[in-house]
Amino acid sequence: MEDAGEALAGNGEVLLLGGGNPARIPEVQRAFREAMGSLLDDAPRFDRIVGDYDGPQGNAEFLSAIAGLLNSQFNWGISENNVALTNGSQTSFFVLFNMFAGTNRDGREQRILLPLIPEYIGYTEMGLGKCIFDTCKPSITLSGDHQFKYHVDFEHLQIHSHTSALCVSRPTNPTGNVLTDAEIEQLYVLATERGLPLIIDGAYGTPFPNIIFTDATPFWDSNIILCLSLSKLGLAGVRTGIVIAHEDIIQSIKSANAILNLTPGSFGPGLTTDMVRDGSILEISNQFIRPFYQSRAEIAINWLESELAGYPFRVHTPEGAIFLWLWFKDLPITSEALYQRLKARDVLVIPGEHFFPGLTEPWKHRHECIRVSYAQDQQTVERGIAIIAEEVRAAYDDEAS
Ligand SMILES: Cc1ncc(COP(=O)(O)O)c(C=O)c1O
Repeated sequence: MEDAGEALAGNGEVLLLGGGNPARIPEVQRAFREAMGSLLDDAPRFDRIVGDYDGPQGNAEFLSAIAGLLNSQFNWGISENNVALTNGSQTSFFVLFNMFAGTNRDGREQRILLPLIPEYIGYTEMGLGKCIFDTCKPSITLSGDHQFKYHVDFEHLQIHSHTSALCVSRPTNPTGNVLTDAEIEQLYVLATERGLPLIIDGAYGTPFPNIIFTDATPFWDSNIILCLSLSKLGLAGVRTGIVIAHEDIIQSIKSANAILNLTPGSFGPGLTTDMVRDGSILEISNQFIRPFYQSRAEIAINWLESELAGYPFRVHTPEGAIFLWLWFKDLPITSEALYQRLKARDVLVIPGEHFFPGLTEPWKHRHECIRVSYAQDQQTVERGIAIIAEEVRAAYDDEAS
């Protein structure tokens, strides 16, 4: 984040392929501008949205619109008592992880189990200095010459007596993996048998922004805590997170909101309530957002394949989200060194080793991967990939000579 901030503040042109910023998709931007126009035209509503505090659970109209949308789409049978808002799903995770992990009232340590790594870098420091995660290395299947996929290694996945919740992102940041329905079901059974919640991070998932290129059934019941966000629709700046969970969990989020923020912001809900109510948020997701990213992923992979032909690279099968996860097997330099070389050439990516929260054993693979965002404009991504490929080729070639 610091590097990206410095790059944005500096004068030179830096190719920002590291961050999680959503793309600017013209049709989507237009829809949000129109929503903003309608809001401004409705003076009493606008004044209420910017002038009043909502309750600590979040804007009541938006809560009931979300419950209505999820019921109409998936028949989940929820009410607004199953929904709470936060100031972005980053905040949702901070509250949830600290609710479940850390030292409990009896002085016992509790931890969150991440069944699949690599996993979202933003979870890493949520224990405020303490590692609050356990994890397990994934199994890997290779496909074709240049792709691979991680799977939950159920044979070695251990739920400990101190495990207090399980958490997966679906689609996964950084890899673009979408856990299969079978994996989700198996995790759900494992969690439920022990009375533990399964937290599903749907920042890129269903029903919006639905950046999923495979078949993935949305799944919720009262033992699941589903975290959604408006960010990856293209509204990262409005900071709205949405938690769908059992009423008791919602009550706890509400209490945390009251302490941390008094109330979550009203602007995201104010801008999008009508779109949730009339379902156009789904149309935008399915007609514009998902196809946009899917086609960008395909194009980016084509560039990589032509730039790195003959080199032993692999990319995680892109099944969703907005990143390519590249694996340079036996790369003679670490991904951190590769990151430094790229930074010196004004290309920012994220070195892979940071995406393994909870992994304590050494694993070479961790230092062989980088995350590259393909959400920037085409020219930036193409130039960035060309420079990444030059540095990767040089690293392999130096070793060979
Ligand atoms: C997997 C995942 N979860 C959660 C977040 C946090 O998103 P926000 O706080 O913008 O809702 C992000 C942001 O990049 C993410 O990639």
